[in-house]
Amino acid sequence: MKNVILIGFMGVGKGSVAREVAKNSNYMIMDTDDLIESMENRRIKHIFKDDGEEYFRDLEKKVALWLEKSVSNTLISTGGGFYKQKNLKKIATVVFLDSPFDAIIKRIKEHPNAANKFKKRPLLSDLKAAKALYKQRRPEYLKLSDIVIDVTNKSATACAKELLKKVKKHA
Ligand code: S3P
Repeated sequence: MKNVILIGFMGVGKGSVAREVAKNSNYMIMDTDDLIESMENRRIKHIFKDDGEEYFRDLEKKVALWLEKSVSNTLISTGGGFYKQKNLKKIATVVFLDSPFDAIIKRIKEHPNAANKFKKRPLLSDLKAAKALYKQRRPEYLKLSDIVIDVTNKSATACAKELLKKVKKHA
């Protein structure tokens, strides 16, 4: 099985979809932000605050090189900026989880732990800036993707089912 990598904006539900895929397939799952947090033994928000975004992007690069060399049969969920890694297509089939900006923000706000969902993401602290970032990134996500899944108003289970079907067809 070729790896699958999930890209898409912050809060779109990459982690939730990955966990549903793991329940319903033989894929192992991992998350690039989780790998970085365990490498550093601190939260992403602290990495941004103490060492800055550039330092974080260098860690993403290290993870990307390792994924390409050493990981197979795995569905990899990523941080919203990981798609910029140059070797993305060498790592996996690229699946873009798509949804309008307002729907993503609504989804986060409706989460029981919404305050924490915002707090842990430094790039969501200013919603106007986040919307500009979304506008800049969406065409780039689309351009890179092998498969697109519109996740708006769909459950993670339904998205996972659609993903497995589309990945099978794409293989
Ligand atoms: C980022 C997204 C975050 C995390 C970091 C930067 C981004 O991950 O990697 O805060 O640049 O979009 P999520 O997409 O899981 O929120």
